Amino acid sequence: MGEERSSSYPVVNAHNEWDPLEEIIVGTVEGAMIPPWDVIMEATLHGKDLWDFYKKHGGTPWPRELVDAAKKDLDEFVHILEAEGVIVRRPTPYDFSKAYATPDFEIESGCYALMPRDVLLVIGHQIIEAPMGWRSRYHENHAYKDLCKEYFKKGAQWVSAPRPQLSDRSYVDGFVAPTEGEPMRTILTEFEPLFDAADAIKCGRDIFVAQSSCFNRFGIEWLQRHLGDDYRVHEVSVYDTHPMHIDATFYPLAPGKLLINPERVEKVPDMFNQAGWDVLICPEPLMPEGHPMYNCSCWISMNVLMLDKERVIVSKGEDTLIEALKDWGLKPIPCNFYHFATIGGGFHCASVDIRRRGELESYF
Ligand code: NVA
Repeated sequence: MGEERSSSYPVVNAHNEWDPLEEIIVGTVEGAMIPPWDVIMEATLHGKDLWDFYKKHGGTPWPRELVDAAKKDLDEFVHILEAEGVIVRRPTPYDFSKAYATPDFEIESGCYALMPRDVLLVIGHQIIEAPMGWRSRYHENHAYKDLCKEYFKKGAQWVSAPRPQLSDRSYVDGFVAPTEGEPMRTILTEFEPLFDAADAIKCGRDIFVAQSSCFNRFGIEWLQRHLGDDYRVHEVSVYDTHPMHIDATFYPLAPGKLLINPERVEKVPDMFNQAGWDVLICPEPLMPEGHPMYNCSCWISMNVLMLDKERVIVSKGEDTLIEALKDWGLKPIPCNFYHFATIGGGFHCASVDIRRRGELESYF
């Protein structure tokens, strides 16, 4: 599947979140492990009950019923993408159950290939393997190596950011996550550049990032210098007690349409107002109270996927958001995804765009 293509665009071509989508990688639930407990999880996961769950069960496979329910959602997502004419590629099965060690740390197991958005930062014609801060995700890129090699052979640029050491020096000693209302703080030190790819979101020549417990300033500086003068990397001011990834916080959906999380964005960068963008306030999520969520908050409702400037895949059940998207001139395509969100994230997390039909432009 997906080997042949007729596009006149380079094999890897992704400049923003809305150009017409031609090819995408979607993650897999196969072999998914419960992440083994590690220091960074206290800083990135909302809720002490979750920490206890991971301390007890981390390093074992997710229960079959959760995996099966998540797979059903993911299959529906893939079906919609293919029915809408998008080529869907999948990671190579990889054994995440093995313990591993480097000279700087050891960990009981890896995690999964559920969420390619965190691992591969695709900008323009290049794929950047992200220097991720979770020790249990250190080898997650291996599930995407076959695809990266294939894209490289077809002309894409492929680089890895400096591989991090992830020794204790990368994390603030004795870190305690802030409670709601306390000043925001993040766990990463500035010992080495660190980021997850999902901490950045593309808008042509302007890339928006937010400092988080996965993305430090050293990482922001590395990214800006690596991308060079063709791009401007902007830091968005956000508030989150457990910050991890920008795509349930700040999301340029289409030219002139910026979706924001009203609880997290402290200030929309002036450039959006100056360029006349509409700031769309994401409605309150409707996920039923008590729905199990092991990895993210119910604001994952915001984590939609644009197929072009109008068609948008959005979670079934999020009726208020679906209506709002229609009011904003978009065409929502609802897909069941609450069960995938239980162990993973949203549509944007579960995928990474490889090729969209469009050019590098400035929208400001
Ligand atoms: N960390 C975010 C999810 C980002 C995709 C949240 O829990 O809302």
